[in-house]
Amino acid sequence: MTDNRDYYDAFSARYDRDRDRGYHKLIDDQAAELVRRVGEGAEVLEVGCGTGLVLQRVAAFARRAVGVDLSPGMLEKAKSRGLDVVEGSATALPFPDESFDVAYSFKVLSHVPELPRALAEMLRVIRPGGHLVFDIYNRHSLRFAIKRLFGPRSTSTQFDEAAISTAFLTPDQVVAILPPGGRLVGQAGIRVITPHPAVLRLPAIGRAVEKLEWTLMDSPAARFAGFSVFTVEKDR
Ligand SMILES: C[S@@+](CC[C@H](N)C(=O)[O-])C[C@H]1O[C@@H](n2cnc3c(N)ncnc32)[C@H](O)[C@@H]1O
Repeated sequence: MTDNRDYYDAFSARYDRDRDRGYHKLIDDQAAELVRRVGEGAEVLEVGCGTGLVLQRVAAFARRAVGVDLSPGMLEKAKSRGLDVVEGSATALPFPDESFDVAYSFKVLSHVPELPRALAEMLRVIRPGGHLVFDIYNRHSLRFAIKRLFGPRSTSTQFDEAAISTAFLTPDQVVAILPPGGRLVGQAGIRVITPHPAVLRLPAIGRAVEKLEWTLMDSPAARFAGFSVFTVEKDR
């Protein structure tokens, strides 16, 4: 955990670079859209909010938007965006039971070795009838296949997944470890056909791929997305 904090603190200095356009903007817009479906007008928590790129989108439609992250460096940037954030761990969330309507997390839980515990914590802090929305890196994806063939840095411009614990699971493996007290109500996928972020920078091809990614997000092909997204409803 301390190692992870040091890694993310170092990463925070350059995390926002180029994320306001192209591939990174697309995946953050898609993440926010999947949260909006259950989080409009609601009290919402982002687990592993980083510099607040998704949280600032969510804050635009939520009644209350709060972020938690283990990295002070990341949190400094989120605070400079005027966001309501606190330091804490995904596996011991610093909130009482049933504090929020929605808890969500993107690009985080695949790096948390105690994933079932993190999911149970997220379920604990939401109210009955509320929702979890989270992504997990998909073992059945083009992104994973390319990584396998060409190495861990081959599908990313910035993020060195080899430097920290990273798990790739199939959608079925994720469904099998969902915490008791919640039921799966939705599955979607982000980054279905994009082989590398640079593709989104190509003038005409980039626009076509972006459009297709929005269409595929809710299609059967989403099962093979780089990021499998799950929506879970907490029992009433
Ligand atoms: C790749 S960044 C993603 C940030 C943000 N979710 C986004 O989509 O822009 C991963 C973030 O998760 C945080 N993180 C990693 N492990 C965590 C844990 N166990 N508890 C809380 N935050 C964690 C890191 O500090 C980092 O800010």
